Amino acid sequence: MKVLVTGGTGYIGSHTCVELIESGHEVVIMDNLYNSSAEVLNRIEQITSVRPAFYEADIRDHAAYKKIFNEHHIDAVIHFAGLKAVGESVEKPLEYYDNNIYGTLVLLEEMRNFHVNKIVFSSSATVYGDPKEVPIREDAELHTTNPYGSTKLYIEQIMKDAAHADSDLKVCLLRYFNPIGAHQSGLIGETPNGIPNNLLPYVAQVATGIRDYLRVWGNDYDTVDGTGVRDYIHVVDLAHGHLLALEYLNKCEENVCVFNLGTGNGYSVLQVVQAFERNSGRKVPYQICERRAGDIATCYADTTKARELLGFIAKYDIDDMCRDLWNFASKNPEGIQ
Ligand code: NAD
Ligand code: WQD
Repeated sequence: MKVLVTGGTGYIGSHTCVELIESGHEVVIMDNLYNSSAEVLNRIEQITSVRPAFYEADIRDHAAYKKIFNEHHIDAVIHFAGLKAVGESVEKPLEYYDNNIYGTLVLLEEMRNFHVNKIVFSSSATVYGDPKEVPIREDAELHTTNPYGSTKLYIEQIMKDAAHADSDLKVCLLRYFNPIGAHQSGLIGETPNGIPNNLLPYVAQVATGIRDYLRVWGNDYDTVDGTGVRDYIHVVDLAHGHLLALEYLNKCEENVCVFNLGTGNGYSVLQVVQAFERNSGRKVPYQICERRAGDIATCYADTTKARELLGFIAKYDIDDMCRDLWNFASKNPEGIQ
């Protein structure tokens, strides 16, 4: 298949491009490089020996799609492009709605104009809010606690409505849990801008000496050791899930499908710190601090549906994730420039 990957130079997008190319698909990337570097294209080429077609363009730009869809016969879109910082979304909700929601509307409109009718969308476990029970099933109640999460929930609804109105359109909504780790080559990985919000990028910066210590946001949750529990998934497993989703869209009867992509295992903050220390040989000093506003105690996936319908099984465990993250972070202390 020839696949348009929006946000394809970003963290999850770049790993998915590698998986696609290695499975014999053709990749066309559209990214405005707001949160990534064109150097990623060189890295993808180094890993796969194939350089994907690249358009430096904004997903809100109608003219860009006209160019891309006229120059390539696109079979399906994987839509990663978007802003993703929870805290920033509270400060700048309009920017988040404009970029994520308006961008998706333009994409869907141009897909319809050019008869491109399969799309896989990067949703998030954030749409489950504070779940009533774990593991979380896809049919759990949905609600969000911040504008970023709301963009994911609204886009899911927009895609469902669009698929309802157009029987040719097929949509796969993938709700990622906590993606971490990096490609085993150490060539691509996550390069956060500024002070990282997410746990693992912060831990890696403590280990490389960029930050002094980790602030652990609360140890009074009702969990194994009082710290927050999450379902961390290796980004390479996650990327593979997108291939399975594309295969599923090619054969399924329904117009809309939704899957959790996680491992089904929960790890606490302190368990993750220990795993990282074990796999990096570095100490990660930490201090227990107050809870972070908006955090929940425990979140992990029920993976039954993805396993049964997609055949998705995560191959990598928390040690693999930490080892591969450290391999990337130690080789690229400044990120990918
Ligand atoms: P990322 O920031 O590394 O990648 C997103 C890419 O989209 C970047 O390369 C950025 O330059 C590009 N982009 C942003 N706005 C754009 C626009 N208007 N036009 C064109 N390109 C644009 O993020 P990521 O971690 O790879 O996340 C990819 C997707 O997965 C996002 O939609 C994110 O919300 C979602 N997601 C991420 C996580 C996570 O923890 N990383 C979890 C759940 C869901
Ligand atoms: C994990 C755990 C923190 C940083 C976020 C988004 C979610 C999704 C994934 C996109 C929690 C603790 C963290 C730190 C800490 N993104 N922590 N010190 O909050 O589960 O999810 O990223 O869709 O929408 O909300 O991930 O990595 O921020 O936190 O103690 O410096 O680590 O309290 O328990 P989270 P995270």
